[in-house]
Amino acid sequence: MNKYSLLFLVLLCLLQVSKLGLCLKAKAHKGNNGLNRHGFISATSFGAVGDGKTDDTKAFLNAWKAVCNGGSRGKTNLLVPLGKTFMLKPLTFEGPCKSSSIAFLIRGNLVAPGYTWHAGNYPAWISFDSINGLVITGGGTVDGRGSVWWRNVHHRPTAMHFNNCNGLHISNLQHLNSPRNHISLSCSENISVSGLNMTAPGDSPNTDGIDISNCRGVDIRDSVISTGDDCIAINRGSSFINITGIFCGPGHGISVGSLGENGYFSAVEEVRVKNCTLSNTANGVRIKTFQNGLGFARKISFEDIKMVASENPIIIEQNYHNRGKNGEVSFEYSNSQSCHVNRFYQTLSGGSGNGRGVKVSDVRYANIHGSSASCEAITMNCDADLGCVDIVMEHVDIVSAKSGHKVYASCKNVHWKYFDSLISCQKRH
Ligand SMILES: *[C@@H]1O[C@H](CO)[C@@H](O)[C@H](O)[C@H]1NC(C)=O
Ligand SMILES: *[C@@H]1O[C@H](CO)[C@@H](O)[C@H](O)[C@H]1NC(C)=O
Ligand SMILES: *[C@@H]1O[C@H](CO)[C@@H](O)[C@H](O)[C@H]1NC(C)=O
Ligand SMILES: *[C@@H]1O[C@H](CO)[C@@H](O)[C@H](O)[C@H]1NC(C)=O
Repeated sequence: MNKYSLLFLVLLCLLQVSKLGLCLKAKAHKGNNGLNRHGFISATSFGAVGDGKTDDTKAFLNAWKAVCNGGSRGKTNLLVPLGKTFMLKPLTFEGPCKSSSIAFLIRGNLVAPGYTWHAGNYPAWISFDSINGLVITGGGTVDGRGSVWWRNVHHRPTAMHFNNCNGLHISNLQHLNSPRNHISLSCSENISVSGLNMTAPGDSPNTDGIDISNCRGVDIRDSVISTGDDCIAINRGSSFINITGIFCGPGHGISVGSLGENGYFSAVEEVRVKNCTLSNTANGVRIKTFQNGLGFARKISFEDIKMVASENPIIIEQNYHNRGKNGEVSFEYSNSQSCHVNRFYQTLSGGSGNGRGVKVSDVRYANIHGSSASCEAITMNCDADLGCVDIVMEHVDIVSAKSGHKVYASCKNVHWKYFDSLISCQKRH
């Protein structure tokens, strides 16, 4: 360091002192009590080793306690440092915290133990509960090491579960190989998710990307989701959900539902899916409700969607049987008794299995183009009594992925408001 840069640093420091009175003080505190001068508490300061083998669970929980309690000097950022891999057993980061904003900065890697456990006791690997203003970001990797679960174990855990976390921001992370769904969001308001890259094998069971239930106000954007089940599933009690700029595939597409399983009252409304690509997915955009459920799915739009050899590009299935294949039942996590969000949607809980069906109405498909891997590009399998009502289709142009083949729509009990599309409903025999 030459004397000019030294002088510059001294001046900078003096400037900081005069402005904030922080520079010297922060220097003095460096390394003290696990705090550093950037306002971060590093997990390593609480004894986390980060060699990928040592159990760092306790160290993380202790670091969390410090952050959640506001640090002694208002440090509310937990740092997972770059270049290290921390092995964590199932754990819960719990609030409420002192600060109205807490950051969890994942620069390094978090890995699951790589063995199975009783998912009845620990249904998620990493849980966040009752924390407002939580920000999770940092460019690091969250690896659920799911392969040990996929083959043999029936009840598998979610990798990351957020419950009752209002004002949550998740961004810029890599998620790998969850035992089950990668992220589930429940009982929360005002969530934004962006810049995620989720990867699991296309044939891994139930490895949804993001599942939402009982949430209001969720914005998911600009992410790549390549997993073995739904890229995004919007489940009961969810409203005001925006999904934009998602690349999905392989996977089972973007789904509303399943709704109404076991006759439960399930409601979803105000969903906008826009500017997404579905590539080599089992479904494209799907609404799926159980035959004996209760409730509604309404005010839903799918707009500016590109299909690349999707197996069932557009599908509404209103007659889904309660005894679906296990692999097809979307994961619902939250215990609605303790959930305060969208309480309105939960007041009519059924559960008898005797519902008359989940109403599907006001669904708009606009500017959907690309290719279908099957001939049935559009499936509207609606209930004879309820029907699907106010379905709008404009500028839907899907061709067969196989040259020389034609595609058609299968239309059962669907009440179009209008149907402006190059595909026509197949004649029924
Ligand atoms: C969510 O955001 C809306 C609009 O900004 C606000 O009115 C509401 O209070 C927020 N909800 C929570 C639980 O913070
Ligand atoms: C997403 O993750 C996969 C698997 O780790 C990687 O191969 C790919 O390059 C990543 N993509 C982006 C855009 O980061
Ligand atoms: C969803 O998008 C609409 C239209 O752009 C916007 O008005 C609304 O605030 C968005 N909601 C969320 C939760 O981002
Ligand atoms: C659509 O999504 C892609 C992928 O995230 C993004 O790059 C692009 O800017 C988006 N386009 C619009 C019009 O929002």
